[in-house]
Amino acid sequence: MRVLITIIIAFVLQSCMSPDKKRVFEAESSNGLVKLHFNLSDEGEPYYLVMRDNKTVIDTSFLGFEFKNTAAFDKNFIIKNTETKTFNETWQMPWGEQLDVENNYRELKVMLQEKVSPERFLNIVFRVYDDGVGFRYEFPEQARLKEVEITEEHTQFNLTQDYKTFWIPGDWDIYEHLYSTTKLSEIDALKYVDHVNLAQTYIPENAVNTPVTMVGDDGIHLSFHEAALVDYSGMTLKVDTEKLCLESHLVGSQNTDYKVKRSLPFHTPWRAIQMTDNAPDLITSNLIVNLNDPNKIGDVSWFKPMKYTGVWWEMHLGKSSWDYGMEMVDGQWLDTGKAHGKHGATTENVKNFIDFSAKHNIKGVLVEGWNTGWERWIGFEDREGVFDFVTTYPDYDFDEVINYGKEKGVDIIMHHESSAATETYTKQQDTAFALMQHYGIHSVKTGYVGKILPKGEYHHGQYMVNHYNTTVEKAAKYEVAINAHEPIKATGLRRTYPNTISREGLRGQEFNAWAQDGGNPPEHLPIVAFTRMLAGPIDFTPGIFNIKFDEYKKENQVNTTLAQQLALYVVIYSPIQMAADLVEHYEANPEPLQFIKDVGVDWEMTKVLNGEVGDYVTIARKERLTGNWFLGSITDENARELEVDFDFLDANQTYIATIYKDGNNAHWNDNPLALEIETITINKSSKLTLILAEGGGCAISLIKN
Ligand code: NOJ
Ligand code: CA
Repeated sequence: MRVLITIIIAFVLQSCMSPDKKRVFEAESSNGLVKLHFNLSDEGEPYYLVMRDNKTVIDTSFLGFEFKNTAAFDKNFIIKNTETKTFNETWQMPWGEQLDVENNYRELKVMLQEKVSPERFLNIVFRVYDDGVGFRYEFPEQARLKEVEITEEHTQFNLTQDYKTFWIPGDWDIYEHLYSTTKLSEIDALKYVDHVNLAQTYIPENAVNTPVTMVGDDGIHLSFHEAALVDYSGMTLKVDTEKLCLESHLVGSQNTDYKVKRSLPFHTPWRAIQMTDNAPDLITSNLIVNLNDPNKIGDVSWFKPMKYTGVWWEMHLGKSSWDYGMEMVDGQWLDTGKAHGKHGATTENVKNFIDFSAKHNIKGVLVEGWNTGWERWIGFEDREGVFDFVTTYPDYDFDEVINYGKEKGVDIIMHHESSAATETYTKQQDTAFALMQHYGIHSVKTGYVGKILPKGEYHHGQYMVNHYNTTVEKAAKYEVAINAHEPIKATGLRRTYPNTISREGLRGQEFNAWAQDGGNPPEHLPIVAFTRMLAGPIDFTPGIFNIKFDEYKKENQVNTTLAQQLALYVVIYSPIQMAADLVEHYEANPEPLQFIKDVGVDWEMTKVLNGEVGDYVTIARKERLTGNWFLGSITDENARELEVDFDFLDANQTYIATIYKDGNNAHWNDNPLALEIETITINKSSKLTLILAEGGGCAISLIKN
């Protein structure tokens, strides 16, 4: 792995400097566009400002903490000394949207001490990039502070405009909300408190979850998030709609009267602000991964990015079921003759998926509902001890399925639905991962549906952050990669633990199968691309060809055209991409299936060719091994014509371009299946006008000629 690092460190030792208004502590990004100022108020309160292109983007914003066990960190500080550093490296993603990542920042570290007893210490580290700012708090080892019980972190982001904001509520238990688009001053998260679709939800404040993205009148684009969330609780942002100020509001627990407990020394996650001139640059910004530590688990070549099919959509449609119809008798699951015959994960059904996948260049098959416990999955208070992660239902033969897959070159993807019963899952993990290792299975989809057990914990609090992270670390020891559903948000930890391959953490495709509110509207993914996707890979599970599925559900449908379903393989990034529809629906549509067969999953380079948050986006990605390019373009409920210049292609190379586009009169609701496929030759000097229908899209494979 090629890594170039340049570090220049300057120490400025300013022993016991008194607060000095005239003196400003600054850092400036390498191109000079982004500038950060730090100082203390007359009362010794820490604050910062951020300027971009000589405009104040974050105005005076105060920083501090409240504790249960000790006096607050909010004032009476002096600056003991400061350090500045210039850092520039190029690191490589083992799999990802691109191979080489430039990480180029200027760092300002401010070391504070209280000027009154008990004279405790706090450091704040700022990293200033051309595409934004990250900062975190360091609690250094010190004699008069050994442990903190944080009741609240007070990190402010004081904004200077009433931005157009794309947000979901600051739910402590789930991110599966539709995005709202309002002015910052009009955010009202509390109106989502009673949500019909969710097995768990808790929204205590007018706060939003991150990433939250904003567009200014002057064209500036901002997105607020956090990076490297480890042994801490998730941060929501409380909205002061009058002052246009966001402030950290940490996720808590009903079991403790603090939100985070840590022994010193430790540091918090990074608080991150992406800042760009336009929407496409938000997607190509690497701020979040760059703020994370380098790979700690070494070689992960045992995980191969792949497309997969699976026993999944059929359960969401109600064609088959996860459970078999067993009964729990004296704590044991028994086949008492009550099998209902609808069980999906049968040996035969899985073999059918293996056959189909082998034929169509798809390397994985996910099998949900293979293990005992699903009869008492959802809606039960007492879910501990219900699921078992090694015992199969009677009609599923693990050895047979694995051997059949091996013969055909197809891997099984494991599924562990914990039903949020974390103690049972934690206890069984070693055995469950060892079973996977025995069968040569290298990835697992985990699930956390329901209210967390132990009672009183939330999905996004410190307890669960630690559960999700220790699961990833433990899995790495068994060469297992994790795709978590009902996860903690992605915060770029895939850089440090590259066995963190994908996750849900948004309203995924499944909502289209059963949501009582009409599913995901056409604007959903054009918002997701500029919000949730900035955090990291998404297991969205695209590729539904039978858009209306009236045979199964008359009330539900996918709210896009078929062409958009293809485009999502390029637009939505994940190193594992599901071909989510039923085998029979693909077999009835061999022509569009060709795109799924061809499309890559691991990229050397990504170009975002155009886009506006919530409206449309066009992305082109170059496949690592072949050098072929793939393009995806999607729009919201509005039809559009988008000019694409292919000047990103390699020089002196022609490509056979197969274009999958919305047909005449295509429309997400009235005519979603109208698709036209055209093959032409394209090179670096080509230009095309993509014509997207309402809720439509366009997918292009560009195969080297
Ligand atoms: C919710 C997940 O998002 C979905 O993909 C899965 O099928 C069910 N839980 C069952 O685990
Ligand atoms: Ca729109």
